[in-house]
Amino acid sequence: MTESVVLETRELTVQFGGLLALCDVSIDCHRGQLTGLIGPNGAGKTTLIDAVTGFVRATGQVFLEGEEISALPPHRRAHRGLTRTWQSMELFDDISVRANLEVASRRLTFAGGLRDFFGGRRVVDERARWALEVLDLMDVAERKPRELSQGQRKLVGVARALAGGPNLLLLDEPAAGLDQTATVRLASQLRGLIDLGHTILLVDHDMSLVLRVCERIHVIEFGRLIASGTPEEIRADSVVIRAYLGSSGSRA
Ligand SMILES: Nc1ncnc2c1ncn2[C@@H]1O[C@H](COP(=O)(O)OP(=O)(O)OP(=O)(O)O)[C@@H](O)[C@H]1O
Ligand SMILES: [Mg+2]
Repeated sequence: MTESVVLETRELTVQFGGLLALCDVSIDCHRGQLTGLIGPNGAGKTTLIDAVTGFVRATGQVFLEGEEISALPPHRRAHRGLTRTWQSMELFDDISVRANLEVASRRLTFAGGLRDFFGGRRVVDERARWALEVLDLMDVAERKPRELSQGQRKLVGVARALAGGPNLLLLDEPAAGLDQTATVRLASQLRGLIDLGHTILLVDHDMSLVLRVCERIHVIEFGRLIASGTPEEIRADSVVIRAYLGSSGSRA
């Protein structure tokens, strides 16, 4: 494994009763890159995030920064810097956007130990403020999430994950439900995070978005990895064209 690999899965497999939701999936995410994971509905994308972050039982191996984390519970993986967003929006609607970020950041910071206990409040405030600025959300920092547009709420979800100071950000369909304008804005914000040196795994079934913004892409179908490569390689991959793009190839 080279130093540039932040996340690597080896033969990750998840079974739900008789259903093989993920089968021998080996993927990686490189430092400072936006990696895409695409596949049709039910392909196993969320299951892969769940398996990487420890929320479902999986066989196979997960490595973060070269260290195996397969046996660690979710909170220990989070402390190592794995941060995810959820497909269903889970913001606290009755507290401000800023407070939403501080809650997430505090949870990770205070769990970090005594060192953070004394300077914790300041660290939390600074991280939250920084994440709000990076995602251009300062104007809505004191508003409640339920007062915001769907696009802004999605960005708050990303900002909240960012406030935890992740070394890998796993985003589960952040563009779902967004109109074209909001999707374009989100795409440019994600590229902005990459320019700042972040590493992101972007899960989506919107082929056009992923092909546009990602450096590398993994494609899964029925729980199996069917292709990995650059956007150009994925566009030209006959297995992907046949299995995933099909008649909807014009979407890409
Ligand atoms: N907790 C569970 N118990 C049983 N089956 C599950 C569970 N979670 C997911 N599945 C099944 O596993 C398969 C993969 O689901 P998953 O949610 O990972 O797909 P996905 O690619 O994220 O789809 P979508 O694009 O709709 O979000 C599906 O057939 C789904 O019904
Ligand atoms: Mg999903």
